[in-house]
Amino acid sequence: MNMNKHNTFKMPLSFVQFSDIHLGKSLVFPEPVVQQIKRNFTTALDELERLEADFLLVSGDAVNTGLADIEEYLEYISRISMPVYHIPSSHDLALGPLPDGSIILNDDPGFWEEKIGQARISFTCKGVRFIFFEPFRKISEKKGLNIFDADIAAWLSGELRKVSPQQPLVIGYHIPVLASGETFSGWQNAEEFFSLLQGYNVMTISGHRHRNDETMIRNIRQIQTGSLAGFQWNGLPPHYMFPVRPGYRIFQFHQSRWYSFFKEIGVKNQIVLEKINNIHTLGPRPQVRPAILSADAELLAKVYSEDAAPEIVEYSLDNKNWNRLEKKSDFLWSEWSGRIPYERFHEKFNVITIRAGFDNQLKVYDSVPVFVRTENEPPADMQSSPEMLFELITDASDQFFSQPEEVYSFPWIPLPCG
Ligand SMILES: [Fe+2]
Repeated sequence: MNMNKHNTFKMPLSFVQFSDIHLGKSLVFPEPVVQQIKRNFTTALDELERLEADFLLVSGDAVNTGLADIEEYLEYISRISMPVYHIPSSHDLALGPLPDGSIILNDDPGFWEEKIGQARISFTCKGVRFIFFEPFRKISEKKGLNIFDADIAAWLSGELRKVSPQQPLVIGYHIPVLASGETFSGWQNAEEFFSLLQGYNVMTISGHRHRNDETMIRNIRQIQTGSLAGFQWNGLPPHYMFPVRPGYRIFQFHQSRWYSFFKEIGVKNQIVLEKINNIHTLGPRPQVRPAILSADAELLAKVYSEDAAPEIVEYSLDNKNWNRLEKKSDFLWSEWSGRIPYERFHEKFNVITIRAGFDNQLKVYDSVPVFVRTENEPPADMQSSPEMLFELITDASDQFFSQPEEVYSFPWIPLPCG
């Protein structure tokens, strides 16, 4: 068994994205919840050091209440030996906590830049250009918004002039642009932002929603990354508000393509059925976007193992007959693909289950619900199908999940937005 894959695997260009750590104070969350966030952060930092990535990006909401937490945050990041870049946004820029659990909003990054570093960043790493910024603006005492205004558009245009159309480019911000058809939300003037990016070899990455997703907007890939706080930000189990366990994303640039994996912290073996017919299934579970099929199902699965890579990865529609997937690539995680013929789906509602087997007999599982669309039903807009919750009950031991010591239930409170 390869005892430490991380020491033997050298990645050409890789970086790690932490998002929405939410370290620090809250006037409403019980103290054990605040302590759990610290444990999440510490565990993630331990794992980060073993990854030997080129740099860490913290894509916003690093702290819970801005100015009031920044000294504590600095102590944590002083332990990191690789370069760290930040995209400060709503919680980072706050001037402190409010009694109702919200924050004193602010959009001046002055104190952040003094203590941590520039709020707008651009640099080149191993031939790839990176641009990180956030157009967050306070518009009232209680409301902030991303506004892609003339000032930020001029700055970004200047940055883009330094990039050739072929050069790989990654643009990071905290709040993602959400698209429904031709309508955008999350940002004002998002149309102008995407117009500027046309013709570039660009991928965008973000956080904020405490969820994972991947969409195409105007032919530009946008990856959303779940939070390092996970459901443990407010102590409620994943189903209620933030249906993703705490984790971070590892990016790898290989042969002119980006690959990424959302690693749950503290988990040694992890599997996810990430795409069906190139549509992201969200997740890891319980967050899910069920697939809607009218043809064969092309599966993309990803498997992470702290020790040896899995020997076999299989899928099943009935949990009795298992069919092998084919290994496509092997990084820190391995990627597997396969095709399920349409005629194998006998039911209107199906569950595709995948599993990976390891030397030591351990198996890990993931499942995604699938609806079969018949000829007389209207076509579905797959990217906008609703997010749902789905979790397979397995015999996996609790030790594979990073659990809070207790689940704290407390009365409904107004929560600060993502
Ligand atoms: Fe957040």
